[in-house]
Amino acid sequence: MTQLPTEATHLPSSSDCNGIGIRVFGNADAANRCVAEEIANQMIYAANEGRNCVLGLATGSTPIGVYRELVRMHRDEALTFDNVITFNLDEYLPMQPHEPQSYVRFMNEKLFDHIDIRRENIHIPDGAIDPSAIEAFCRGYENRISDAGGIDLQLLGIGRTGHVGFNEPGSTRDSLTRRVRLNAKTRADAADDFRGIEHVPIHAITMGVQTILSARKIRLLAFGDHKAPIIRRTIHGAITGDVPATFLQGHGDTQFLLDEMAASRLDFVSSDETHHS
Ligand code: GLP
Repeated sequence: MTQLPTEATHLPSSSDCNGIGIRVFGNADAANRCVAEEIANQMIYAANEGRNCVLGLATGSTPIGVYRELVRMHRDEALTFDNVITFNLDEYLPMQPHEPQSYVRFMNEKLFDHIDIRRENIHIPDGAIDPSAIEAFCRGYENRISDAGGIDLQLLGIGRTGHVGFNEPGSTRDSLTRRVRLNAKTRADAADDFRGIEHVPIHAITMGVQTILSARKIRLLAFGDHKAPIIRRTIHGAITGDVPATFLQGHGDTQFLLDEMAASRLDFVSSDETHHS
């Protein structure tokens, strides 16, 4: 392998496949910093234009490093969230906001409690809602996203089933925010958090595939060996509702930010092409 100049070792390898931009980083921290910087730039750009910045946010273990970096930028670099409006992807159903597995609690602990976002600008699907009010709530969620001007940048993780948000296999491209039934694999993956699969909720509320595809930019993060098979299928596979993340192939401004392990099964990524930082 050719020795690169020191500055170049901070650059990830980049390529494009089926319309998805792929950036492979030496480690998750480098990918997290890259996304956090892009989000901060988006916020600053919107503020300079006197606009709000609308962010679509994700839960799960994957985006925690991005939130940590954004909190650091707020603390050390005076990054303000004063003009930021957020919409979270999903929430278990039923779920009370104070419960340990609640995505409300997760977002407060990882991000919102540590920044200067206005509480009224935070939106998370309501897992405590009365079943009779779910449909109206979901329509209202879509309207609130439109009223805010649409999502500027949507952050995503990916589940083993190829779900984005909680759009499980069988989701259609034109799906909107709605109540869904969770896949058995997804519930098994959440079993530890709930101390047993029998305690994992059967349902969730999630933004739809179309809701996600309406975002102007999409940035999906995936780290670790266990994500390699689904990342391969999502990038190289045919577009199908069996792997809802494949719908991202048709988006136009989607980037996957991967560590070497998550990228290890891609056809064109050899370890010589990736650089450590
Ligand atoms: C949950 C979330 C998804 C997330 C997925 C992966 O199912 N609803 O939005 O992408 O978990 O989780 P992790 O990042 O912990 O692998």
